[in-house]
Amino acid sequence: MGVKAAVEIGVAIGFVLTLAACSDGATSGTVDGERIFNQFCFSCHMAGISGAPKPGDMADWAPRLAKGEALLLDVTRTGIVPAMPPMGMCLQCSDEELLAAIRFMSTPP
Ligand code: HEC
Repeated sequence: MGVKAAVEIGVAIGFVLTLAACSDGATSGTVDGERIFNQFCFSCHMAGISGAPKPGDMADWAPRLAKGEALLLDVTRTGIVPAMPPMGMCLQCSDEELLAAIRFMSTPP
């Protein structure tokens, strides 16, 4: 094989490795729940608008956490009519990102 083909294959492999590194980062706990919270959930949850559970307020969160994280994630995805819009307004968020934001809010400060 010529030098040019070898270089092209090398570039292609490098590209695939870069993609693999990216998706690996997303699954290994580098999702920043606080950032998602500050960007999307903050507006309602910080002040407890319409009874939104406040971050770090364990009296607010304890009965909700008792339902289990999976259900909270489900509710977040669907939204709560009329109090909370679907995905908590973060329409592009992955399940992981929503869960990270929920964990950030429901953990004592
Ligand atoms: C427009 C306001 C608003 C935004 C934005 C918002 N929420 Fe909420 N959220 C609420 C309100 C109000 C409640 C309480 C509703 C109730 O219990 O009746 C709530 C409740 C919740 C609950 C508890 C659900 C349950 O079953 O008890 C979770 C979890 C939650 N929000 C996650 C999020 C996340 C994560 C975000 C950001 C990605 C977010 N919310 C953004 C208003 C909002």
